[in-house]
Amino acid sequence: MPRDAQGYLVPGVISASRPVPSRIARPEYVGKPGPRAYAGDNTYSAEEIERIRESGSIAAQAIEAVAAAIRPGITTQQLDDVAFDFLVSHDAYPSTLGYRGYPKSVCTSLNEVVCHGIPDDTTLVDGDIINLDITAYRNGMHGDLNKTFIVGEAAPAAADLVQRTREALDRGIRAVAPGREVNVIGRAIESYTKRFGYGVIRDFTGHGVGAAFHTGLIIPHYDSAPAFADVMEVGMVFTIEPMLTMGTPERPGGYAWDQWGDGWTVTTKDKSWTAQFEHTLVVTERGADILTLP
Ligand code: MF3
Ligand code: CO
Ligand code: CO
Repeated sequence: MPRDAQGYLVPGVISASRPVPSRIARPEYVGKPGPRAYAGDNTYSAEEIERIRESGSIAAQAIEAVAAAIRPGITTQQLDDVAFDFLVSHDAYPSTLGYRGYPKSVCTSLNEVVCHGIPDDTTLVDGDIINLDITAYRNGMHGDLNKTFIVGEAAPAAADLVQRTREALDRGIRAVAPGREVNVIGRAIESYTKRFGYGVIRDFTGHGVGAAFHTGLIIPHYDSAPAFADVMEVGMVFTIEPMLTMGTPERPGGYAWDQWGDGWTVTTKDKSWTAQFEHTLVVTERGADILTLP
């Protein structure tokens, strides 16, 4: 199936997009080339935060439903079907479906794929690692998260990468506090990952999320100071979603990557394996409250 002679992933066959029932409200960008520029800010009322939490909870439950279907031999399109059916049956719109032309309800990023892998006829193989990234839109709000799963049993180095990437997200979340600049988040993540010799992807970042899928607020996963000095405030909502790579070759400006001709799939240039975890969270007086728990 879609792997080359060396076992690297190659583009597969992408099936037609599935239609979402018309009773489910769509984000404004669906059917357009891209989203409107977001005019609002990144802080929300308590009532709005509860709506983001509801969308985030549905997205988190959808990830659990898709993860339960993971097994050697299943295709990433079959996983997309589980994601689509779960979201639609919970009255949520799959935010990625029709976002800048993206055709599916989940991103499925395996092994050397950094992010934005499109579900197709690729079959999972024992030992793969697969990231599932789902965003749900309901009641006018998006909730966005991702997790990386192991198919069967992984090589120890791959299992370590997955576990340490989850820990890197936790450390980023623990750096959140009102009054701090957002660049403390990437500083916490990068200082932890350096000790393992991992690379940190710089060109894809966390982001403001809620009333828009991507609000324009950027949350780097590397130590970007003095840049990205937005000050965190109580009620501010954004994602943290570090992508770590097993290889070490950094180019000036970050870890080198390629993009497939599909306009989406991002791989490491050196084909080293990569993992990611993401939550949407709100800044509180005490730190952060995760909005994407099941
Ligand atoms: N959910 C991804 C994020 O974390 C964005 C995916 S956009 C898509 O920001 F179109 F590729 F699905
Ligand atoms: Co995100
Ligand atoms: Co996401």
